[in-house]
Order: sequence, then C-alpha cells, then structure tokens
Amino acid sequence: MRLSNKVAIVTGAGAGIGRASALRFAAEGARVVAADINEAGAIETADLLPDGSPGEIAPVRVDVTDTASVKAMIQSTVDRFGGLHVLFSNAGIMRDGSAIDLSEDDWDAMFAVNVKGAFLCAKHGVPAMRASGGGSLIITASANSFYAESDIAGYCATKGAAMQLTRAMAIDHGPEGIRVNCICPGWIETAMAAPYLEENPDGREFAGKIAPSGRIGQPNDVAEVALFLASDESSFVTGSLMLVDGGMSAW
Ligand SMILES: NC(=O)c1ccc[n+]([C@@H]2O[C@H](COP(=O)([O-])OP(=O)(O)OC[C@H]3O[C@@H](n4cnc5c(N)ncnc54)[C@H](O)[C@@H]3O)[C@@H](O)[C@H]2O)c1
Repeated sequence: MRLSNKVAIVTGAGAGIGRASALRFAAEGARVVAADINEAGAIETADLLPDGSPGEIAPVRVDVTDTASVKAMIQSTVDRFGGLHVLFSNAGIMRDGSAIDLSEDDWDAMFAVNVKGAFLCAKHGVPAMRASGGGSLIITASANSFYAESDIAGYCATKGAAMQLTRAMAIDHGPEGIRVNCICPGWIETAMAAPYLEENPDGREFAGKIAPSGRIGQPNDVAEVALFLASDESSFVTGSLMLVDGGMSAW
C-alpha cells in the first residue's frame, strides 16, 4: 500500500487522467476525494472502485475557477478524512485556435481553469497540507509546456504558466515539507484528445509514430507517474517537470 494513511484530492477526476489517478490512488490505500465540475462523472469514478478496495473515493462537485467552491472542496475533505496530504490539480480544458483565431472568451476560459484553477487549489490546499505535516502537490501541465504545436496558442500559454507555477511553488513551500511537481503528458487517449482523433482517422497511428514508444498514451500511463509523485517514494523529488509522452519530445 503505497498511499496508506494518505488523504488525496484529484481534480478533473470525473474522466480521463484524473479518473485513472483517483482509482489508482485508492487501490494503493488512499482516501480520495474525486472532484470535478461534472458531478455525474465524479460519481461514476467512485462507482468504478471495486468492492473491497483498500482505499475509498468520495465524489465531490467543484469548479476550480471559483474560490468558494475550491475552499468548500478542501474543507469538506479535511472534515471527512481528517487532513490532506496529496493534491493532484489536474482539471483542464483545451480550446483550438491560433492567437488570431482564438476568441477572448476561450483564452479567458483556459486561463481560468488551467492556471487560476491550479493557483486556487494551491492557495487553499497548501495550508491544509501544512497542517497535516506536509504533502505533495502535483499539477498536470503538458508536453506543450516545453514545445508548441500549431493552432493551440492559448493552451500552450496556459501550460507554460502551469510549469512555472510548479517551480515557483516548489521553491516557496519546500522548506515546509510540501513538494510541488508537474506532470507533462504527451498525447493521451481521453475525451480531450477525442476530437483530434475523430477528425484524423490516422491520428492514433500518427501519435504512435511521433512517440518513440510507438503508441498513443493511456490515462493509466499518467496515473502511475502521479502515484509515484504522490507517494513517499518521491520524497527527494520537487520542482520537477515530468514528461510522460512516450519519448515524443526526444526528437
Ligand atoms: N489528453 C491529452 O492528450 C493531454 C495531454 C497533455 C495534458 N493534458 C492535461 O491533462 C489534464 C486532464 O485532461 P484529460 O486528458 O484527462 O481530459 P478530460 O477532458 O478527460 O478530463 C478533464 C476533466 O476536467 C474537468 N474540468 C473541466 N473544467 C473544470 C472545472 N472548472 N472544475 C473542475 N473540473 C473541471 C472535466 O469535467 C473533465 O472531467 C488536463 O489538465 C489536460 O490539459 C492532457
């Protein structure tokens, strides 16, 4: 049990990477709050936990762009499970477009979820982790934190910001026993990637071709890295930017 006695929150846990991570954490003994703006998705995640699992999943609705909602998520976690040790700030959205084509609303929406959402979770989650004796904050950035792609200018900007937030927070909070790392996935087969894969029948093959590993990633590929960062096995890892892209960025 790599996360026994740990309390974790995973945002964006109603689908994709967040769902896989919440289930993986619970399988290792964590008591997990699966938080998502899509409450039905969060409930479905909790329902997917097999009977007899060593951990527990409590579904919660949260809008990570809203202070009151984030504060309520943190407070209800502490009230229910007695503390907070792991916060996986994973909720994210993507809107297509070059800087010229992207609407201002889409720009604001992406910054609200991908950057302000991570900031609010950290702002209100770190004090709870501090009160619990320290912890691990993980942010889902992207391979696009390092390199850009065509037609997702705003998304790339948010993920660059998420990466720098990680490093800045690792410096600020390391001395109080809080590690801060980000995971930078490449192409992962989730709802976020689905429109691209549907539009491009050879998209899956293409993603496999550009990754030396020869395949597109799956949510569990990311969940395993999140588990490592959440556990005490990574006790000397902070401020790191972990690429989980099948080697795509090695080109
Ligand atoms: N799939 C990929 O190829 C890929 C690559 C790099 C990075 N990422 C990042 O991984 C993270 C997870 O994405 P995914 O691929 O699992 O996509 P997904 O769409 O399956 O999951 C994202 C989840 O975030 C939730 N969410 C959106 N806005 C929210 C809000 N305001 N408050 C709370 N929850 C909210 C959604 O309801 C959804 O359940 C995102 O940060 C994304 O940017 C994904």
